[in-house]
Amino acid sequence: MQCQEGEQREVDATPPSAATPTSVFQTICASCHGPMGEGDRALGAPSIASLPRWYVEEQMQKFRNGQRGAHPQDINGQKMRAGIASLSASEIEEAVDELVALSAVSHPRTLEGDAVAGEQLYQEHCMACHRFNGHGELVFRSASLNGLQDWYVFHQLGNFQQGIRGYHAEDESGAKMRKAVSYLTRDQEKRDVVAWLAELARKFPVKKPAASTAPPVRPSTLDTLDTLDTLDTLDKASPHKNR
Ligand code: HEC
Ligand code: HEC
Repeated sequence: MQCQEGEQREVDATPPSAATPTSVFQTICASCHGPMGEGDRALGAPSIASLPRWYVEEQMQKFRNGQRGAHPQDINGQKMRAGIASLSASEIEEAVDELVALSAVSHPRTLEGDAVAGEQLYQEHCMACHRFNGHGELVFRSASLNGLQDWYVFHQLGNFQQGIRGYHAEDESGAKMRKAVSYLTRDQEKRDVVAWLAELARKFPVKKPAASTAPPVRPSTLDTLDTLDTLDTLDKASPHKNR
């Protein structure tokens, strides 16, 4: 599927300098995630245009080293792993540079859920890490949830619950999420949270800074922070005490 244009090219074909997509992002990533990083439901490919650089870099690393997408039941994760398998580290870096410069995309809702019930669940079980606005937090390594498609979020929650994501012994972030989603026991609760996330995305859309003004943050400075503390605090706080 990727840049197999050899067969079609004739001797007198347009010279390579013509306006054909040649960047790594447009030739490889866009074949699944779309030219604007908007995602493609049929392929299970998420919208990635709204994601912050640190998170993208971390996930690329996980796909590459098998901490994500290597589970035998993770069909979509396997597609992603295979999709980038042939790329070098510098090609991936080039693709990420292009990705983080894209504008955020918003998405129509496809799932029904009760946003009021979802807000309650979100405040009790998600907000401490993903923040009041759903933008996540670098120090917790918690993803930004705004700008993702609802079906993708729903699917990921199921993946964490079933251990299809967050299965690797060294994936500490995944382990935190696995614990957090264990509080959502019914599918309807997941749909309700997702409905509330749609509200958050509307209220607090991701506004990306211009690429040049957003220097990459190196995770190495944060390695000493133990975010499991947060979850312990959450566990101890009775949901009824704080309202
Ligand atoms: C063959 C199709 C395919 C290609 C090519 C591909 N991806 Fe993906 N990508 C996917 C799928 C499918 C997922 C969802 C995996 C899952 O469900 O966990 C994904 C997930 C991701 C994620 C995780 C998003 C999140 O919210 O956690 C990132 C980041 C990403 N891709 C970036 C890229 C970049 C950058 C490239 C190009 C270098 C690329 N992908 C190429 C299919 C692809
Ligand atoms: C203890 C902190 C913590 C709590 C509480 C928490 N999360 Fe997370 N969440 C994370 C971290 C860290 C990640 C990144 C996981 C990874 O790197 O794979 C994450 C990832 C996710 C993702 C994947 C996003 C993507 O782009 O693929 C979703 C969806 C998500 N969280 C939703 C939720 C929901 C809904 C709740 C509440 C039920 C919740 N989280 C509670 C820390 C947390």
